[in-house]
Amino acid sequence: MTDFINAQVAQIRETVGDRKVLLALSGGVDSSVCAALLAKAIPGQIYAIFVDHGFMRLNEADEIENIFSKHDLNFIRVNAAARFLKGVTGITDPEQKRKIIGAEFIRVFEEEAKKLGKVPFLAQGTIYPDIAESGEKHLVKSHHNVGGLPENLDFESLIEPLSTLYKPQVREVGHLLGLPADLVNRQPFPGPGLAVRVIGEITAEKLDTLRLADAIFRQVLESELSELPSQYFAVLTDTHSVGIKGTTRTFDPVIALRAVKTADFMRCESVRIPYEILETVVSRITNEIPAVSRVVFDITPKPSATVEWL
Ligand code: XMP
Repeated sequence: MTDFINAQVAQIRETVGDRKVLLALSGGVDSSVCAALLAKAIPGQIYAIFVDHGFMRLNEADEIENIFSKHDLNFIRVNAAARFLKGVTGITDPEQKRKIIGAEFIRVFEEEAKKLGKVPFLAQGTIYPDIAESGEKHLVKSHHNVGGLPENLDFESLIEPLSTLYKPQVREVGHLLGLPADLVNRQPFPGPGLAVRVIGEITAEKLDTLRLADAIFRQVLESELSELPSQYFAVLTDTHSVGIKGTTRTFDPVIALRAVKTADFMRCESVRIPYEILETVVSRITNEIPAVSRVVFDITPKPSATVEWL
């Protein structure tokens, strides 16, 4: 892989010369590794745009900023939470949520790109399965930027240094480039983020509740399990149930937890988390988050259920 990195660095330098490159950075593994490779090859010539749509996990946007603002990436964070939330207010249909978020993402990205003037290259973290699975090359795979960038954005050409690699090789390149292990090994996270993990209408309060529950679940699994599931997360359902807090009757939302193991995310099985660990998670969620009445664990395989609830 060291040879691969050296060859890519040489190739990027030759292609780009002294010109500028724009990178749509999601903070996911692929675009992060792509960013690190570009930073090694052409420091100072990259403009990495990270759009914080407000549907990131607890502290995630700050973590991404902390990591990438230290690299030579002219890191630009766009805080767009308010306009994204406004866009999905009142929307309950999952596909409509995705479409609205995708369209808003493109608008924000275009606005930011325009501010930088003419930039000839767009770099992306496209990896081999993105190309192989889709049959044709997508300009940006949905999980990099939510909706895919429009074809008519004004770039001379694309730079996709990871397009011959599978995910494990991408992780290896990330390690060799010195990216933090927790960034390189992170689980997949859907482009529309927590917006597809709040069932029903999305509100700021619901997002806060889900962020806390999800953080507790991840924290406990990460400290208790030697081998982590392929994906593990919390969902805020739109079901309310009766509970008791002290002597008070409550009627609050139900949180669902999901942990799956898979090689390719096309099929997956639920992971058998030890009962004591689940009990710890449930106890922490119900004690630490007043707005949750009950916690359930989803053991449905894919198929018949998808990984995400929406
Ligand atoms: P499903 O729910 O389809 O998920 O079984 C399979 C994998 O894809 C991720 N996923 C998404 N990724 N945008 C994305 O970038 C999306 O809209 C989206 N929906 C699902 C999911 O997290 C899992 O890893």
